[in-house]
Amino acid sequence: MQRESLEAYPAFAPAIREVLLSAEEIEARVQALGQAISQDYAGRNPLLVGVLRGVFVFLADLYRAITIPAEVDFISVASYSAESRDRGVVRLIKDLDLSIMGRDVIFVEDIVDTGLTLNFLLRNLQARGPASLEVCALFNKPKRRLIDIPLKYKGFDLPDRLVVGYGLDYRERYRNLPFLALLEPSVFLGGEKENNAGRRTE
Ligand code: IMP
Repeated sequence: MQRESLEAYPAFAPAIREVLLSAEEIEARVQALGQAISQDYAGRNPLLVGVLRGVFVFLADLYRAITIPAEVDFISVASYSAESRDRGVVRLIKDLDLSIMGRDVIFVEDIVDTGLTLNFLLRNLQARGPASLEVCALFNKPKRRLIDIPLKYKGFDLPDRLVVGYGLDYRERYRNLPFLALLEPSVFLGGEKENNAGRRTE
């Protein structure tokens, strides 16, 4: 329990059950990921591709932790329904602005859960002929994985619980918390189960 992280966010305190990772712990890990990418891609100008919206906080910090020339682009997806989302059926609502043909692409994800969304998007990107395609995921829920996808760069393994903060939301809230937290059960209204809540929001 790291209640001190919450002191600057009193409006959120009643909803937060537990702080799992402090802002400092996340920052240290993001810096290490940035260093690893800078070393591995030295002289290559990689293109970081992020999926909106959850990744924007992580990607902004990761990008600044990378000390070599690199570019950024975004893709945005929506699921047709909660059920189709669970099967990994998503549609692109914003495509990349840049061509990735012949580029060294690093696909940046905030959190990998079942892996279905990531699998769909990686296949889509692979078909466009990048020189290389690797994944950098800050958070990983290995117990929920349905498809095995190699995560070349990984921040933290998490338990199978809905987490919020550092870009991750529950019903569009909590993205601005700089730490990663579990919510109080009372937040989950309308009979939604915690494990089914907060999957990719549109
Ligand atoms: P997957 O296709 O099951 O791997 O879904 C990954 C997406 O679900 C992430 O990019 C998030 O948008 C969302 N997601 C999964 N777990 C959580 C969570 O604990 N909090 C918030 N969003 C989550």
